[in-house]
Amino acid sequence: MSDTWLILGASSAVARAFAREAASHGAALLLAGRDMEDLEHQAADLAIRHGVSAQPMRFEARDLASHAGFIAECRQEAEKNGAGRGLLNVFLAFGVMPEQAEADADPAVAAGMVEANFTGAASVLGALGPVLEAQRGGTVVALGSVAGDRGRKRNFLYGATKAALLVYLQGYAARLSGAGVRVLCIKAGPVDTGMTWALPKLPFMASPRQFAAAAWRRAGTGGGSAYLPVVWWPVMTIIRLLPTPVFNKLNI
Ligand SMILES: NC(=O)c1ccc[n+]([C@@H]2O[C@H](COP(=O)([O-])OP(=O)(O)OC[C@H]3O[C@@H](n4cnc5c(N)ncnc54)[C@H](OP(=O)(O)O)[C@@H]3O)[C@@H](O)[C@H]2O)c1
Repeated sequence: MSDTWLILGASSAVARAFAREAASHGAALLLAGRDMEDLEHQAADLAIRHGVSAQPMRFEARDLASHAGFIAECRQEAEKNGAGRGLLNVFLAFGVMPEQAEADADPAVAAGMVEANFTGAASVLGALGPVLEAQRGGTVVALGSVAGDRGRKRNFLYGATKAALLVYLQGYAARLSGAGVRVLCIKAGPVDTGMTWALPKLPFMASPRQFAAAAWRRAGTGGGSAYLPVVWWPVMTIIRLLPTPVFNKLNI
């Protein structure tokens, strides 16, 4: 793959590793997020290491009114990069995961998570839709979660936001398929990032680097949905099939 990758939530550990992967394949990058200082450093580092164009962009997922203007800017930047056919591709990595108890206790925390993980994602992808349709091609990769497969005691609100994102992406993929756009939802298992550092030891934990390399390879093969690491496919198949009384007794 080549062209431009717009990385949404580019300060995320997973996104950072994916940006490196894309740059190593010669892609130009638009690094979008809130921490401009970090994005500027990252852009300079990628440009020096890989000789690609890398541009920091300010992006706030919860500022829905800004999304149309933000996407127009991204389109202009991608056209300037003009690498290959100048296709714009998207890696959507922003998200938050406050504890379930925190969300239960404070409606603002709950609403903030829904807004960042789902409403913000739907809004920015909605603004991107016509751009992707018009360019007749490109790839969208979004980070869902195994938590979206079945609501667990410990984080069902987070899981619900990822389940909603998956359903959105299914319809989005169907709509854009006629334009040759590929849409992939990665159902991510635990990755060793800031999001998980405070949690008890999790099984099959991937490093951001391993995860990003696998995501890049999978994105090259087509859309749909995919468990990463793939071990989560059999694990989640079992979890989904557990009878409700058994599942409800599990402390997960
Ligand atoms: N780590 C895991 O085990 C795991 C598992 C399954 C799925 N995922 C998903 O993978 C994605 C990346 O997570 P990560 O593990 O790399 O976590 P991370 O390092 O905490 O990154 C999360 C990123 O989201 C950004 N973000 C949060 N709210 C935002 C908002 N309102 N507007 C713009 N950006 C916002 C953060 O930006 P700031 O730096 O500005 O706060 C940060 O860059 C998330 O969608 C997460 O749900 C992670």
